[in-house]
Amino acid sequence: MNTLILYMSHHGTTRKVVDMLVHGIGSAKTHSIDLEKHEDPELAGFDTIIIGGSIHMGQIQSRIKRFCEQHRQELLSKRLGLFLCFMNQELGQQEFDNAYPQELRNHAVAQGLFGGELLVEKMNFIEKFIIRMVAKETRSRSQLNYDAINRFIQVMR
Ligand SMILES: Cc1cc2nc3c(=O)[nH]c(=O)nc-3n(C[C@H](O)[C@H](O)[C@H](O)COP(=O)(O)O)c2cc1C
Repeated sequence: MNTLILYMSHHGTTRKVVDMLVHGIGSAKTHSIDLEKHEDPELAGFDTIIIGGSIHMGQIQSRIKRFCEQHRQELLSKRLGLFLCFMNQELGQQEFDNAYPQELRNHAVAQGLFGGELLVEKMNFIEKFIIRMVAKETRSRSQLNYDAINRFIQVMR
């Protein structure tokens, strides 16, 4: 089965997760595309599609939202996995439900809520200010849920 992973990543955490997925699912049959660089990739030729992004200020990347809306019918004809990187443990499920349309969530064979990382050294001045206000803490830290990532790989393999 050929798998295509479509993703966007602001500071590299989602990209890091995508690398883990590619290796876990099998690099010979798994391709990844950054939607930042290729806005409208061709889905034909792939029977499995995985889509992943990250939450900033309560929202997933708007390009991922748009892609899901514009390709809804085609995505419903594929084996689908959806995942999300985020930091707010309490709001994670809500952020996931808001990030992907219900129809796609219902259709997905795997839904990954992977947590995330705060990488202060990669933030600009405004991002540091926002994080200081919201999280009341400015240390870099990782809250990636490796068990959830591995469970997702088992299903999508
Ligand atoms: C400016 C900023 C705003 C953020 N806003 C949220 C948020 O509203 N909710 C949340 O759960 N995580 C939030 N995060 C945490 C990111 O989702 C987390 O850092 C994630 O790992 C980023 O992945 P990426 O580097 O692939 O974009 C925010 C992070 C930054 C830097």
